Amino acid sequence: MGTDELRSRTDEAASMLLELAKERSNILLYSHNDADGIASASILAKSIERSGGNFTIRVAPGILHQRLDNVGDYDLVVFCGLGIGIVSAIGSSIHKWTAIDHHKSNKQDHHDNVINSWSFGVDGSHDVCTSSMAFLIARGMESSNRDLAWIAVVGALADRQDESKGRILTGINKLVLDDAIEAGSVSVSKDLIMYGRETQPIHKAIGTTFSPYIPGLTGNFDACTGLVTTAGINQKDNGRWRTLMDLSEKEKETLLNAVKPYLSRASTSEGLVDELFGEVYSLVKEYQYSSFTDAREFGTLLNACGRTGRQGLGIALCIGDRSATASEGVEALSQYQSALGKYIQVILTEHGRILERQNVGIIVGDGLVDENMIGPLATILSEVERFTKKILIVRTSTDESHMKCSVRKGKGPTADVELGPLVESVVEQTGGSGGGHPAAASARIPISRAEEFLSKVVSKINGDPN
Ligand code: C5P
Repeated sequence: MGTDELRSRTDEAASMLLELAKERSNILLYSHNDADGIASASILAKSIERSGGNFTIRVAPGILHQRLDNVGDYDLVVFCGLGIGIVSAIGSSIHKWTAIDHHKSNKQDHHDNVINSWSFGVDGSHDVCTSSMAFLIARGMESSNRDLAWIAVVGALADRQDESKGRILTGINKLVLDDAIEAGSVSVSKDLIMYGRETQPIHKAIGTTFSPYIPGLTGNFDACTGLVTTAGINQKDNGRWRTLMDLSEKEKETLLNAVKPYLSRASTSEGLVDELFGEVYSLVKEYQYSSFTDAREFGTLLNACGRTGRQGLGIALCIGDRSATASEGVEALSQYQSALGKYIQVILTEHGRILERQNVGIIVGDGLVDENMIGPLATILSEVERFTKKILIVRTSTDESHMKCSVRKGKGPTADVELGPLVESVVEQTGGSGGGHPAAASARIPISRAEEFLSKVVSKINGDPN
């Protein structure tokens, strides 16, 4: 089992989709609301449309029984990145369906209709995500769909599949990247990797970099301004803020050298510099100096759309009329970032928001954090120095008497557990739903069982097999 077997399975799905599209069938694309899910639905929608089929897209945070209404009316339903639980949630309500996914489950033996990378021995945390699988299907339908590869590159980066040294894409993601390069949509270079490389003033790019978290600089714009000035780098050019893109190679080197001492303050500083310099992926057909040019920033934009209830906007940004949506996208991005900034500030300063239980940090987001924002918030907090070597659980209450929580591994060596399968096994005991990847998972639990869930997760992380 491996990449070839996975590809022959996505080719089979491509043949089925192509046949149905040519018959002008109605196809429902039912996708997860993160950037990878939005990218997947966009790729498949465009391919179906090009082949003559009709599509409808539904985007949801998870597979909710009530949202399965009317799915039986479609000729085919394609579930994208909705994790495990799909087979039981569907039951017998749909006669024709398939699912593509890259989450790791205890039950990797599932249904014939589910194409899960792990079942083929392909690492769904680093080498393939749902949007790169969606692209394989699109490419199998028509080779001319190669021009959609850039969307999968954005999905893979937003899914943080670029964790290898030098922040490169590997495995199937690399094959997709090669297609995107050949199609003339993406160019790759080596550069500083900081947020807003082309769009933000230099001090802001440093201050909003959370991956890696730079102690003393992340979130501290005054210190960043001081650092840039002391390094002798001009912040403005003829009154215009310069961005990282504007710096000469020499200036970039000077900046990196100025940042290095801050990174060495981190308790697991090894390798952090490598995270700040590596492959950057430019979407060459986009306007320069916009939030659409850097593929990582585009991915954040899709996450912003998905997590703030503007999924349609995210899809339009991928495959629709950009002129009508660009400014709305930038607005969604800014709201998303200011909400995350507010959450982080309150959590790190308000008494009682952080509870320490052995090597687990529990963040109480109740009454503060919107349940849709908890995933990206947990990802950012997992980079924060305070949670180094810990496992982090961020929780919040929902308005439906549930607790939603996202679990992440912090930096450095943490307990040797696989979070997705661990959460999945606890949910079987407490009720609710949950699952995910080895280093990132989430769950939704009835509020009455929340404490029981948390203490079981903490015990399992600390080695209790029950
Ligand atoms: O919501 P959050 O971003 O924290 O989710 C972490 C990961 O766990 C995501 O990739 C999500 O798709 C996955 N997940 C899952 N099954 C669930 C809930 C989350 O596979 N029931």
